[in-house]
Amino acid sequence: MTTHSLLLLPGDGIGVETIAEVERLIAFFNAKSNTARFHVERDLVGGAAYDAHGVAVTDEAMDKAQKADAVMFGAVGGPKWASVPYQHRPEAGLLRLRKDLDLFANLRPAICYPALADASSLKRELVEGLDIMIVRELTGGVYFGEPKEIVTLENGEKRAVDTQLYTTHEIERITKVAFDLAKKRRNLVHSAEKHNVMRTGVLWKQVTTDVHKSYAPDVKLEHILADNCAMQLIRNPKQFDVIVTDNLFGDVLSDEAAMMTGSLGMLPSASLGAPDPKTGRRKALYEPVHGSAPDIAGQGLANPIATIASFGMALRYSFDMGKEADLVDQAIARVLDKGLRTGDIMQPGMTKVGTSDMGKAVETELRALTV
Ligand code: NAD
Ligand code: IPM
Ligand code: MN
Repeated sequence: MTTHSLLLLPGDGIGVETIAEVERLIAFFNAKSNTARFHVERDLVGGAAYDAHGVAVTDEAMDKAQKADAVMFGAVGGPKWASVPYQHRPEAGLLRLRKDLDLFANLRPAICYPALADASSLKRELVEGLDIMIVRELTGGVYFGEPKEIVTLENGEKRAVDTQLYTTHEIERITKVAFDLAKKRRNLVHSAEKHNVMRTGVLWKQVTTDVHKSYAPDVKLEHILADNCAMQLIRNPKQFDVIVTDNLFGDVLSDEAAMMTGSLGMLPSASLGAPDPKTGRRKALYEPVHGSAPDIAGQGLANPIATIASFGMALRYSFDMGKEADLVDQAIARVLDKGLRTGDIMQPGMTKVGTSDMGKAVETELRALTV
């Protein structure tokens, strides 16, 4: 039997509560004799790591992340750490993980489960059957470009600068991921940038056009300005299949897409590195798109589905357990069909449950599906 190593980094706030529900599923899979086993390690990240060690992620935790087959990440941040030195803010731990593991490809699928078609803030007919894949570049752009600083000028005024920076190679590799995914989906890629304002947008458009040549005519490429993309997502989201975009636009567009699925608490993600030329193994981190939700943290109110579905993505992309990943998705769909809802997706006539009851219900359905 294969043993997969998994590093759990629950982090802060609701990250701790939703990762606990993934541990429930790991225990379920480990108890089944005919499936692969998971060897689990844990560590701190974010504010929790800062409180214990004075940094948002330790070198030891980074070492574990480098060695693990995959990392499951909860969420980081919160008002408690609002005044820690900038380089030690909780979010810096997540950014270091992404950068040092070179996790350049962030897959954020926005899927509207049938039972939640009325939970979205958009009309049912706009979101019913929605299945979009946002491919966000994750290790470049304005998140990491230098200089990145606040300087005090001679006249005492301050000047802040962030640098949006992309190379051909960075754009090529994320665009290829998008086209390869589209080939297995509906053969359509929208590339969102702002070439009308930004030099990085001009290069982005050129490179995606070049990369597209080896995928045409099977896969269609549409260039779209990022602001128009944001509007079109609200106007008619089902026109999209795969959207490929830079780090910052991808951050914003994916939160927007989340609301089409009913809640930010529904959106999972996978952050993948390049396949190792010898082993084919990709470094990978899986996390919900949402944050630590300080407003509801510690109360058992969080929706764990985004984190559970992120574990489903780990089964699919890191552990070659596509069948089990499908079962996790089916279990989630069944729980929603039965009317169980956390507060964020609550609808009239449904049964309101907390984080752990939602996790238990997913496990129960998974058990029923696998007997
Ligand atoms: P957030 O995603 O934490 O919360 C936004 C809103 O959505 C809140 O009202 C929250 O209650 C709700 N929400 C989010 N996830 C939910 C869930 N699973 N179930 C039910 N409701 C949910 O974003 P924010 O408030 O802008 O940020 C809070 C902190 O989280 C900040 O410190 C931010 O930097 C951090 N953050 C971390 C990550 C991450 O770790 N990957 C992602 C986003 C934000
Ligand atoms: C996300 C988050 C992160 C980002 C923060 C916490 C650094 O918002 O994963 O979407 O901006 O990438
Ligand atoms: Mn975000």
